Amino acid sequence: MVSSLLWLWLWLWLWLWLLPATATAAALPSPHPEVTPPPSLPSPLGQRGLISAAESYADGIVSGLGSDVSAYIASGVPQFFQALPTGAAVLSSLGIDDTDLAATPTQVLNLPPYGNWTAAGWNVRVHGNVYKMPNISEAKLDDLADAFLAGTAVKDLPPAQQSQARNLTAEIFVVQQRRVNVTVVFETIAGGEQGGDDDGGAVDAAGGAQTIQLPGETTDEGDFGPWVVLANTSSSSSGSGGFLVPGNETTRVQTLGMRAVGTDSGNATAYLVPPTGVTVVSDIDDILRVTKIWDPREGLLNSFVRPFVPWLDMPAVYSNWSASWEDMHFHYLTTTPEQVTRNYMDFIFKTYPPGSFDTRPLNFSDVSATLSIRKFLLDRVFETFPLRKFILVGDTSNSDVMKDYPQLTRDFPGKVLCILLRNSSSTDATDRFPYDTAGFAGLPQDQYMFFNVPDDLAGLDLAGGRCHNASVRQNVTFGTQGLPFGLGTKSSAVPGRLGQSSCVLGLGLLAVVHLFVFL
Ligand SMILES: *[C@@H]1O[C@H](CO)[C@@H](O)[C@H](O)[C@H]1NC(C)=O
Ligand SMILES: *[C@@H]1O[C@H](CO)[C@@H](O)[C@H](O)[C@H]1NC(C)=O
Ligand SMILES: *[C@@H]1O[C@H](CO)[C@@H](O)[C@H](O)[C@H]1NC(C)=O
Ligand SMILES: *[C@@H]1O[C@H](CO)[C@@H](O)[C@H](O)[C@H]1NC(C)=O
Ligand SMILES: *[C@@H]1O[C@H](CO)[C@@H](O)[C@H](O)[C@H]1NC(C)=O
Ligand SMILES: *[C@@H]1O[C@H](CO)[C@@H](O)[C@H](O)[C@H]1NC(C)=O
Ligand SMILES: *[C@@H]1O[C@H](CO)[C@@H](O)[C@H](O)[C@H]1NC(C)=O
Ligand SMILES: *[C@@H]1O[C@H](CO)[C@@H](O)[C@H](O)[C@H]1NC(C)=O
Ligand SMILES: *[C@@H]1O[C@H](CO)[C@@H](O)[C@H](O)[C@H]1NC(C)=O
Ligand SMILES: *[C@@H]1O[C@H](CO)[C@@H](O)[C@H](O)[C@H]1NC(C)=O
Ligand SMILES: *[C@@H]1O[C@H](CO)[C@@H](O)[C@H](O)[C@H]1NC(C)=O
Ligand SMILES: *[C@@H]1O[C@H](CO)[C@@H](O)[C@H](O)[C@H]1NC(C)=O
Repeated sequence: MVSSLLWLWLWLWLWLWLLPATATAAALPSPHPEVTPPPSLPSPLGQRGLISAAESYADGIVSGLGSDVSAYIASGVPQFFQALPTGAAVLSSLGIDDTDLAATPTQVLNLPPYGNWTAAGWNVRVHGNVYKMPNISEAKLDDLADAFLAGTAVKDLPPAQQSQARNLTAEIFVVQQRRVNVTVVFETIAGGEQGGDDDGGAVDAAGGAQTIQLPGETTDEGDFGPWVVLANTSSSSSGSGGFLVPGNETTRVQTLGMRAVGTDSGNATAYLVPPTGVTVVSDIDDILRVTKIWDPREGLLNSFVRPFVPWLDMPAVYSNWSASWEDMHFHYLTTTPEQVTRNYMDFIFKTYPPGSFDTRPLNFSDVSATLSIRKFLLDRVFETFPLRKFILVGDTSNSDVMKDYPQLTRDFPGKVLCILLRNSSSTDATDRFPYDTAGFAGLPQDQYMFFNVPDDLAGLDLAGGRCHNASVRQNVTFGTQGLPFGLGTKSSAVPGRLGQSSCVLGLGLLAVVHLFVFL
């Protein structure tokens, strides 16, 4: 045990040593191992003011991984999206009072939901958030954005980047509305709300128009997430407009328009998914878009400043799948926080096949909750569609993906058709995140593939359950991989050491230190 700890520390030192200069300037680990919580904005912010708090928050991230390394590795989600300010903390620090805020319109983030077919009818999980956007002057917005930009100022950016920086900052500094009622109108809309491109075999619902006040009010964080059963209504009062097709009488996904009453901001599409068929559950960062979360400075710029761009040819891969599988349902499941969901949805719906969405609800905000949320959301998709098969897509830089995807093959036997993971270190030498492949031990090679570029997926016979392209060499040690100097490999100078620890890994190596220190 003691020597394992020593090895871990040796590894940590080496790893930090190898980090790019930009990220390491002041980044030597403290001699006393401790898992640091993610940097968080004090709440309430009090005298310090939001701007200085946001500055020190961003500084903490950008000055290198330093003492934040543990939380960063452990989360595998962009660290700058952790611990965002919410509710009263935003309000008080902006010097805005309740009356000013009351005058601004209420907005509803309505995430495109999925629904399943039950004995009672179509059952839809309506979910999202109610909030108000304070009227922040552009000058103040720029100050706030500058704090996130790591040494760059909004005024020095080209116009497209300026608007991206202001947009994201405004999305983050919103005031969530607790304990309010939400009413949703379902309506028949050609092409759904996400544009007219219903490829993938989805069809417009022919009926189902109705208005439903959601059961229960929003949570303390402004979230709502009830299941509602749709009545079998026609799209017109005369009943001549057609009806929803029962889930057991179709293999097609039906898209039904929906919007939150009282605002223009809560339009979405509900995906009514039949009991059988194939669902693609896809992560977004570093698989569908270029984020580079393993390089904090790049990750920050790719999220706050640069417009989102797809990763290589992935749109063509998804478009191919969508065109060739009539019964395919796409579900985008990312642990990016709810506040920035609009930007993710906007990007996905312009670039990838339309589908339902899950992001991280606001009550999951610290690192351990962030790590548990993916499994929570994945389990719910599997439980909602017990007869469907799943293709799970992600990349090696997310410790929760590495653990949760193979776990689903055990928790829901026979349901996982394929696990396709981009090996993010193979195409990006700056990715020095170790990743743990222990969960894949015992899985047939045909069920999963670590791939390098989208072309590796071009002609896979997924329907036949052949998910491995024989020309893509797999180098899976069923332990921790991606460490410098071959540490953690079967052939390395320290056989077994890190491999043993990896049984309890899953959260990244520092989490192991956490276990040693706190158990
Ligand atoms: C479809 O499901 C409904 C409700 O469970 C049931 O009443 C109906 O008989 C089923 N239809 C078919 C074709 O199985
Ligand atoms: C926001 O505030 C500015 C001045 O501070 C004012 O001119 C503008 O009308 C306000 N906008 C809204 C939507 O209230
Ligand atoms: C929400 O609706 C319920 C039921 O209609 C009602 O009892 C409750 O007072 C409403 N809450 C608010 C904040 O309006
Ligand atoms: C709704 O009712 C119509 C007319 O009775 C029927 O054809 C249709 O199958 C029903 N749809 C659902 C979802 O129950
Ligand atoms: C939302 O839907 C309503 C009703 O169809 C429409 O009038 C409105 O323009 C839509 N809002 C947006 C932002 O598309
Ligand atoms: C930011 O951009 C998203 C996606 O383009 C858009 O939906 C949203 O309304 C914008 N938000 C603000 C505050 O401009
Ligand atoms: C967040 O809320 C959901 C219900 O909306 C609940 O199931 C979950 O346990 C909560 N998570 C945390 C970390 O509190
Ligand atoms: C529909 O989804 C709910 C919520 O996940 C689940 O409890 C239920 O078992 C599902 N129904 C069917 C028939 O699959
Ligand atoms: C990922 O790519 C790196 C670099 O090419 C390689 O060393 C590693 O073995 C690959 N991982 C897997 C699981 O194949
Ligand atoms: C799309 O499918 C076609 C035909 O099956 C194939 O030739 C092409 O390589 C595929 N492209 C991608 C990016 O998967
Ligand atoms: C396998 O990968 C190679 C290299 O990326 C690609 O050219 C080929 O089309 C792929 N074959 C299949 C069956 O996916
Ligand atoms: C195989 O994986 C190990 C551990 O990640 C790595 O050190 C080694 O370089 C890889 N070999 C190849 C040929 O990619």
